Amino acid sequence: MNLWTRPWSPLVSLTGSNGMSAVSLSDLVLRYGGNLPRYTSYPTAASFTDAVGPAQAEQWLRALPADAPVSLYFHVPFCDELCRFCGCNTSVMRHEDGRMAYGDLLREELRRVVALVGPQRSVKHLQFGGGTPSTLPAASLRQVMRSVRQFFRIEPDAELAMELDPRHVPAGYPQLLGDLGFTRISLGVQDLEEKVQEACGRHQSFAQTEACIDAVRAAGVSGVNVDLIYGLPYQTEESVAATARKIASLRSSRLAVFGYAHVPWKQKRQRLIPEDALPPPVERLRQRARIEEVLCAEGYVAIGLDHYALPDDTLVQAAQAGTLRRNFQGYTTDSSTVLLGMGASAISMLPDGYTQNITAVAPYVRALADQDGLPVARGVARTAEDKLRGGLIEELMCTMQVDLQAGPAAGHDFSVEHAALKPFVQDGFVQMEGGCVRVTEAGRPFLRNVAAVFDTHRQILSSAMPGGAPQPRFATAL
Ligand SMILES: C[S@@+](CC[C@H](N)C(=O)[O-])C[C@H]1O[C@@H](n2cnc3c(N)ncnc32)[C@H](O)[C@@H]1O
Repeated sequence: MNLWTRPWSPLVSLTGSNGMSAVSLSDLVLRYGGNLPRYTSYPTAASFTDAVGPAQAEQWLRALPADAPVSLYFHVPFCDELCRFCGCNTSVMRHEDGRMAYGDLLREELRRVVALVGPQRSVKHLQFGGGTPSTLPAASLRQVMRSVRQFFRIEPDAELAMELDPRHVPAGYPQLLGDLGFTRISLGVQDLEEKVQEACGRHQSFAQTEACIDAVRAAGVSGVNVDLIYGLPYQTEESVAATARKIASLRSSRLAVFGYAHVPWKQKRQRLIPEDALPPPVERLRQRARIEEVLCAEGYVAIGLDHYALPDDTLVQAAQAGTLRRNFQGYTTDSSTVLLGMGASAISMLPDGYTQNITAVAPYVRALADQDGLPVARGVARTAEDKLRGGLIEELMCTMQVDLQAGPAAGHDFSVEHAALKPFVQDGFVQMEGGCVRVTEAGRPFLRNVAAVFDTHRQILSSAMPGGAPQPRFATAL
């Protein structure tokens, strides 16, 4: 039966109905519960250093093949209010002038990038992320989109997407998005339970979420993504199942289900999260499985690590066709190998490496207002080995399988990886046949752990491999 249409739930292997007990779940947590990246790039952002700066970024941009299509990403690091759980670099910018000024800088950065890559490149994917990009005033968004259309050729079937906070949708914004040609919105929900919302400092009624979706759909924006989180304080298997069931009734075409990343050493606002109310790892695994069970029963198809989509959504079609990709925005149908990121902390993906802009808003503003050149702070060059391994990791994250004897991997020595995969095989999470490594459905929650086997930059990550010691660099893998 086809992987993508099979009615299946990993719950079978996580609730004891196949004979596994809570003790074996604890064992799994011990073995696989270290800290791991999400593999939205390879090398991951942990490998970025200031050895790559504006000069290297300029060189890479100038070297882009003349006919290479590009994707565009605009980062807006402002929110109307801050949520305690949020791991993103965001701040509250109340002044309309400050928000307008930021929009002007996005256009200035775009202009500098276009001066290097040349005008009229084809664009099939554009995204505004944050933070909450609808904090850009309507006039500012119009100006940015005017610049985009002036500098680039936006294809008629392009996906234009924006993240929204359903609690703070400015009047007229849904219609503005429709008028500007946006095709998809992503909105945060996380959880519908009052107690969970209270602990997270994010009060959002189901009615607010529903009204936001109705408004964008009425404006002609048909693609809707919703984000949920498990592992938040006070969540239980039953409560996350109830949230998933209610949200599924809105029939958003996609859902992302993230495990709460508790990184208070990095994100100070998370110190306000009551740690004693956080579900333990075993409970997180059960919550994840329960949400998956509900969503699959509601007709959604599981994709990769953490996405679910309705069968007629392009993400499912891409998964079935083997064209699904993974980049900094997560799972995507975007086939472009070039992503140009504008805005504070935005990351660009170029054929020979990744670059990231200055993270904090004030120095990013100064870099554009007071100096020439790009506001790039760090990055990493990709060696041929990185490209090979990055390809394998992306394929695994997207299709849950990879053939080590085909394509660029053929002839490469993977004996170390074969040995490292043995515990996964014993646990029933990976099947190996010839050169083919296939992650089983039961292994889906451990996809990042399997990907990490191919990550030679992971010395600092050894914690997530069976038997390793914890490292607080990333959030927990489970
Ligand atoms: C960049 S945020 C934008 C959300 C949007 N501004 C809103 O308020 O609805 C995108 C998503 O990241 C996820 N996220 C943020 N912090 C997280 C964390 N600590 N752990 C897991 N997911 C997180 C949430 O699901 C959130 O909806």
